[in-house]
Amino acid sequence: MNEKMLNETARGMVAPGRGLLAADESTGTIKKRFDKIGVDNTEPNRRAYRDMLFTTPGFEKHTSGVILFEETLFQSSLTGQPFPRLLASKGVIPGIKVDQGAKPLAGGGADETVTEGLDGLRERLKKYGEAGARFAKWRAVITIGDGTPTDYCIDVNAHALARYAALCQEAGIVPIVEPEVLMDADNTVEVCEAVTDRTLEVVFDALYRQRVLLEGMVLKPNMVVSGAQCPTQADVAEVAARTVKVLKRRVPSAVPGIAFLSGGQSDELATAHLDAMNKLGGLPWNLTFSYGRALQAAALKAWSGSNVDAGKAAHLHRARMNGLASLGQWDQSLEKAA
Ligand code: 13P
Repeated sequence: MNEKMLNETARGMVAPGRGLLAADESTGTIKKRFDKIGVDNTEPNRRAYRDMLFTTPGFEKHTSGVILFEETLFQSSLTGQPFPRLLASKGVIPGIKVDQGAKPLAGGGADETVTEGLDGLRERLKKYGEAGARFAKWRAVITIGDGTPTDYCIDVNAHALARYAALCQEAGIVPIVEPEVLMDADNTVEVCEAVTDRTLEVVFDALYRQRVLLEGMVLKPNMVVSGAQCPTQADVAEVAARTVKVLKRRVPSAVPGIAFLSGGQSDELATAHLDAMNKLGGLPWNLTFSYGRALQAAALKAWSGSNVDAGKAAHLHRARMNGLASLGQWDQSLEKAA
């Protein structure tokens, strides 16, 4: 294992002032996004949309890397350059989602899933590395509900995450380890904190037992928030304090950085939460973003299939706001000014 290279790539992914653009929606997921703006989910449209994002002038200042879907890794930009090469030419690290989705967990609790995609992963990683991918992503889903999550669900997902991470590192690819505790139920923030704490404990135990190099990975967790259906919502300061408390307890300082998912938070709230955590200071790892919806929602709407310049402007604004939040230098007045 090339420990030095893995560490350098991981540190580059969480470099101060920059974060990750998660543009790895599967063909089914991007259809849901396109349906909302009345765009057909065709291969040329997916390519044009991703081209708009990746050719946004100046986005590379705030964007360390992009997570691609497999189709995009092997596509070319509208000017004919393969997307991974286009990104690399701007100093943006190309990455790839390698899991094959969360599937119902046999014998699990209601709505519980386990993420699939380990069979043949070694061979796929080789192919992705040759195409230019330097990091990968695997998302495990933990659902809060009546009697869930079960320990069984957390255990099998942690085991799969660690197996994936070990295979990535063997291939010289930095694994993003993403255990997502969903935020759309009616649970309180205390329940989210307890479940996130337990999940991270089990995940890091599995990573340790499967000999994953902590210096050569990036953690992509949820923030500790109130469930979207919960009548009382924790404010920004409480979310920041609870999230940092759990991370400090469960994430070894050997991990170079933590890049959050947005998980359904509004654009501005996702930025405000990240900023508040970085303003707390004294953190042993870099804290940044790896947002999908919270980076793309405005750009997608502005683009709506043809308004390329408007899409780029909206993308650049969100990337810049989150870049500032990763330094604890964001302020709400910057949103209004824009
Ligand atoms: P969201 O930020 O929309 O949650 O997506 C991030 C991601 O990559 C989930 O795997």
